[in-house]
Amino acid sequence: MIKERFSPEMQQNLSDDAWMILQEDYRPEETLKYESLFCLSNGYLGTRGAYEEGAKNSLPCTFINGVFDKSETFMRELANMPDWLGIRLYVEKELIGIDTCRILEFTRALDMRHALLAKRYILEDRRGRKTLIEGIRMVSRANVHRLGIRLLVTPLNYSGLIEVENILDGSVINFGDAPRFKVKHTRLLQNSCLDTHGAYLEVTTRDRKLCVGTGSRMEAFSDGQPVMKNHSFHAFGETAVEFQDFEAEQGKTVEVVKYAAIYTERETPDYEIHCKVRDEIRQFMADGFDAELSRHTAVYARMWEDANIEIQGDFELDRAVRFTIFHLMSTGNERDEHVNVGAKLLSGEEYGGHAFWDTELFMLPFFACVFPDTARNLENYRYHLLDAARENARKNGYRGAQYPWESADDGTEQCPDWTIEPDGTCYRCYVAVYEHHVTAAVAYGIYHYVKLTGDEQFLKEKGAEILIETARFWASRCEYHETLHRFEIRQVTGPDEWHEPVDNNLYTNYLAKWNLSYVLNLLKEWETTEPVLYEELKNRLSIGEEERGHWQNVMEHMYLPKGKDNGLLEQFEGYFDLQDVTIEACDENDWPIRPKALETVPRSQTQIIKQADVVMLLHLLGEEFDEETRKKNYAYYEKRTLHGSSLSPSIYSVMGLRVGDETKAYRYLCRAAFIDLTDLQKNTREGIHAANAGGVWQTVVFGFAGVSMEEDGVVDIRPHMPKEWSGLSFRLHYRGAKLSITVTPDNQADVKLLEGSPVTVRVNGKVQVMGGTS
Ligand code: BGC
Repeated sequence: MIKERFSPEMQQNLSDDAWMILQEDYRPEETLKYESLFCLSNGYLGTRGAYEEGAKNSLPCTFINGVFDKSETFMRELANMPDWLGIRLYVEKELIGIDTCRILEFTRALDMRHALLAKRYILEDRRGRKTLIEGIRMVSRANVHRLGIRLLVTPLNYSGLIEVENILDGSVINFGDAPRFKVKHTRLLQNSCLDTHGAYLEVTTRDRKLCVGTGSRMEAFSDGQPVMKNHSFHAFGETAVEFQDFEAEQGKTVEVVKYAAIYTERETPDYEIHCKVRDEIRQFMADGFDAELSRHTAVYARMWEDANIEIQGDFELDRAVRFTIFHLMSTGNERDEHVNVGAKLLSGEEYGGHAFWDTELFMLPFFACVFPDTARNLENYRYHLLDAARENARKNGYRGAQYPWESADDGTEQCPDWTIEPDGTCYRCYVAVYEHHVTAAVAYGIYHYVKLTGDEQFLKEKGAEILIETARFWASRCEYHETLHRFEIRQVTGPDEWHEPVDNNLYTNYLAKWNLSYVLNLLKEWETTEPVLYEELKNRLSIGEEERGHWQNVMEHMYLPKGKDNGLLEQFEGYFDLQDVTIEACDENDWPIRPKALETVPRSQTQIIKQADVVMLLHLLGEEFDEETRKKNYAYYEKRTLHGSSLSPSIYSVMGLRVGDETKAYRYLCRAAFIDLTDLQKNTREGIHAANAGGVWQTVVFGFAGVSMEEDGVVDIRPHMPKEWSGLSFRLHYRGAKLSITVTPDNQADVKLLEGSPVTVRVNGKVQVMGGTS
């Protein structure tokens, strides 16, 4: 058991192996990867799993969701905030650190159940002094402004004075290790003592001058008695350091605690921030580290009750699935409807914390079924930015609302127009210019959110307006082909970004058509069932008969490219004329090997694609195609998809099951679940793949458990248990009800209504009405 590597005192707070992710040794080249894997977030902020004492190759980052800045860079990105982690311990000026000492023992572990990062090392300095250091770190979910670290320090073969530095480092920048992307997003306002003791840094973002205050204090106890002495504070440029010390006795453990707190001008006026941080820390210290820890773990216990998926008989996969859920649930924010979930969560600076279509199509189902309040916030986020989407459409020459490919805090397009190569050459980046399907994803997200949660109020008060404006965008985006009598979307990029731009990407055309048809049906229905709402929308959004007629026309005559009569769907016009290169082998991690042909032919001239595109369409709107078509296209595109994006394997897993290819489905689930734990894409250092995490959840619940919420409100369950599993259980929120579902290896499912409204469930065709009077 992993927790047995720790002392009994530490073990009290640690969980069993199914909840623990282990780092067994310290290798500097793996530091960045572990910083992402061990990031702790609480919805409000996230802190990467950097070492308190500092380490080579480290990029300590704390991101506060919603705090963006542009400065000299290409886009508004989450600004790296002062690093609050710093704790340095010295014995006679020797730093007790992993880079400066000989490591005799080393363990770090992420405890997902309690959302804690634990560590244990024995370090030997150059003079042979050995120190045992254990510790836990939390980013509290009970009070999201409180952050804490507790170390247990034991000199093993010496006694003496240990000097302690409590450091807040405001000199951090974004992209510190990427020469031409480096940027400093904050300006120092104040570097001072927090209170009678402690350290305080106040910074503002450089563009919009948003203030953020970070404070900390440290204490130490031996036998329950405070032992810190000789306090002094010094400001070193942008770094605040408080010095203290304590006498350590051989074999005796001293408990060292760092209490930190962060507030921003988003929650409190700028002139109050220092006092807020000071008072928060005073109260935190009065409550004690343990009190906050138990409140924090109690919140996680409640969250896990609903979020945990248990896969029996497949230990490593069970834990890997839990790992993806852990990061997703830690980042979602149930209290703030002005923030989204970025493509790398709050665990890395890549993609600047921006929201993509990843949110609606990959993560939203998880939140809607597990944390519906968070899902509502994600929907509201898009609603708040509807005007910006309108402006974006207008700027690009379209009508209605066009959501940006990458969205930060103000809804303007944040996908960079330019990027820089390592040799300094700039090149134009066309993603936002051509990749428009995010607007359909936002519309689809509303439909799906309402279907899963039953939140009709959102649909009527806010969602309908988005749906109408996005339909309006698509109607203006389509061009009429006079001779072929059809509407087309030319010069567009579909999900597969390796063919950019193309004409008539099937996925985009289909989703645009879906958006128009959904709105037309909704309006038609509301005309009779909700006449007041209908009139109000019609008047407020100026929807005339003529415009509706045009939408109908576009919808009916939208061009949907098909292959030659062989049932194959053509990803875009001309795709089948490209050189037909296929994937022939996988590497030792079961990841497809890049075909040799790509060494000589540009991939855009081949049929090799980056990620699920036609198969993504089959995933979303599969019922519009017959089984034969689904099967044929899955088989065809599967041989040509290189999964250059993490958004791909989970979709191939779910779809593998739908076409009856169960072995492939299982293999794809493994690829998706381990993508970060085994660094399959070699970029985990940049942050956890958020969409993939959502995809893993969908694969298990919608795929292997075979759950589908039918249009008539019935929860249909048809499990496809892989032979490796002896059981599967999880919970779901569905339209105000909470269900617990347990699946057995013979594909039977036991469903219980835990609370809420009555639900009709159908397991393998057998209908059960749960709850209510029957
Ligand atoms: C993928 C996109 C995705 C983005 C952010 C890209 O590599 O191609 O589909 O939205 O990453 O995750």
